[in-house]
Amino acid sequence: MYGVIFDFLREYVTQRHGGEETWKALLAATGNPHRVYFPVKEYPDQEIVDLAGSAAEALDLPLADVLEDFGSYVGPRLISFYKVFFTGDGWNTFDVIEIAGSRIHDVIHRHNPTRKPPDLSAHRESDDLLVVHYHSHRRLCPVVRGIIRGLGEKYGERFAIEETQCMHQGADECVMRVQRLH
Ligand code: HEM
Repeated sequence: MYGVIFDFLREYVTQRHGGEETWKALLAATGNPHRVYFPVKEYPDQEIVDLAGSAAEALDLPLADVLEDFGSYVGPRLISFYKVFFTGDGWNTFDVIEIAGSRIHDVIHRHNPTRKPPDLSAHRESDDLLVVHYHSHRRLCPVVRGIIRGLGEKYGERFAIEETQCMHQGADECVMRVQRLH
C-alpha cells in the first residue's frame, strides 16, 4: 500500500487520538519505532493492518470502528491531496465515488506493475441511491463505508448505508446500497 495512506493514518491518529506521542507509541508497538512513510513509496499491507490493530487495542474499540472512523477522515483528505482530479465546482459524494471507481484508482501510479488498487465500481439506481461494489484482497470495506460518510460530511450530505453482502462473510465482493437522506 502506498505511503500516502500511511501518512493519512499518521495525521488521523495525531489529530483525533492524542498527538505525535500516540503515533510514536503505535510505531513502537508494531516493531518499527523509527518508520517514516513517504507518499509515493510502497509499504507492506501488513504494516497498516498492524498499526490499525494496535490503535484499536489502545482505544479499546473494535477494529472495524477504527477503520471506519479513519475512512471518514481520509475521504476529504483524498480530495484535497489529489485536487487535480477535482477542479471546478458542483462535486458531490456520488460523483466522487463514481470517478474513483471508473478512473482515479486506475490512473494513479499506473506505471507501477506491482500496485494493487482496490476494485471499486458504482451505479445509480436512482438520483438518491448508489450501489457500490468493492473488491480487494485487503478487505477494507469499513474504510469504504467511512470514506462515504466523510465525503458526505464534506458535501453536506447524509446517507444510510446497507451492506447487502460482504467479503468478511464469504462473498466474493462487498456490495453497499448508499441511500441519500433528505
Ligand atoms: C477521492 C479520490 C480518491 C483517490 C485519489 C484515491 C486514491 C487511493 C490510493 C492512492 C490508494 C492506495 C492504493 C494502493 O496503495 O495501491 C487508495 C486505496 C483505497 N481506496 Fe481510494 N481513492 C479515492 C477515492 C476512494 C473512494 C471514493 C473509495 C470508496 C468509497 C476508496 C476506497 C479505497 C480503499 C478501500 C482503499 C484501500 C486499499 C484497498 O482496499 O485495496 N477510494 N485510494
